[in-house]
Amino acid sequence: MQQSFSQLDEQQHLRHLLTMHNLPKATLLQILDRAEVLFNTPTPSQSLLNKNIFNLFFEASTRTRLSFEVAAKKLGATVVSFDVGSSSVSKGESLLDTLHNLEAMGVDIFVVRHSSSGAAEFLARHRRSHAAIINAGDGWHAHPTQALLDMLTIRRHKTDFSQLKVAIVGDIRHSRVARSNIYALHTLGAAEIRVVGPKTLIPDEITALGVKVFYDLKTGLKDVDVIIMLRVQRERMQGAYFPSTAEYFRCYGLSQEQLAYAKSDAIIMHPGPINREVEISAEVANGGQSVILEQVPMGVAVRMAVMEMVCKI
Ligand code: CP
Repeated sequence: MQQSFSQLDEQQHLRHLLTMHNLPKATLLQILDRAEVLFNTPTPSQSLLNKNIFNLFFEASTRTRLSFEVAAKKLGATVVSFDVGSSSVSKGESLLDTLHNLEAMGVDIFVVRHSSSGAAEFLARHRRSHAAIINAGDGWHAHPTQALLDMLTIRRHKTDFSQLKVAIVGDIRHSRVARSNIYALHTLGAAEIRVVGPKTLIPDEITALGVKVFYDLKTGLKDVDVIIMLRVQRERMQGAYFPSTAEYFRCYGLSQEQLAYAKSDAIIMHPGPINREVEISAEVANGGQSVILEQVPMGVAVRMAVMEMVCKI
């Protein structure tokens, strides 16, 4: 059996960022506190000067890839973005051979997105240099920097997690964001975490993560403080999980009518990209309770904080 792999070093400092599972509360809060400082510092010190950051995105991304790039450049790092399509991966080069060749160029941090769950940990286990691995999303498994930026966004609006009821709505089955947010919310002591969606998109095993399951949107939204809407991930679906997009929106799309069941000061989040009129109406996405575009700069801030931390700055 393979030994468990720790993202912390022997002093319990962050060495890699692979998952929110078992990330100590003190470390999570340290990241959020540092991100808050960096967000409020228009010209931060060049703490990553002379550091080389390689972005390895084997799956599409807008927010995560570019916010890592912005974050690294704000701190003075050199950023190299690996274009998978024009790389030798298309000639059959393996993930590990790619890693080892890039490491030989001198890399401090690899930011990795991959369709395979466990890809980031695999690279962390098999790297041959001092490089840190930051998971930018691996299959259905984890998206830790998304969870961190979500926690920072929630904390800026709702100070006391112990009072919060949070509903995560939609395609739970295929969502690394849902899993990472559930772990992070538990670590921060959220009062109640709900998952809401059709039976086909909520795997039975999710209850082991300590969440309440709702198949009816109105009941699931009743009196919640935070609503995290999820994208329907068609690229991970083989076969039909619901009859049609129109039917999905009718039952699980967040419209003004459904929103009225949540607390009147509930905030609405979405990791993006959003599908308007599929999981959320344009009116709600653009409305006064939506913090979807506030999440984006939080992403830059938490990614700056995480990169400093894995570089021991
Ligand atoms: N939230 C998120 O991961 O968005 P991207 O896929 O655009 O990076």
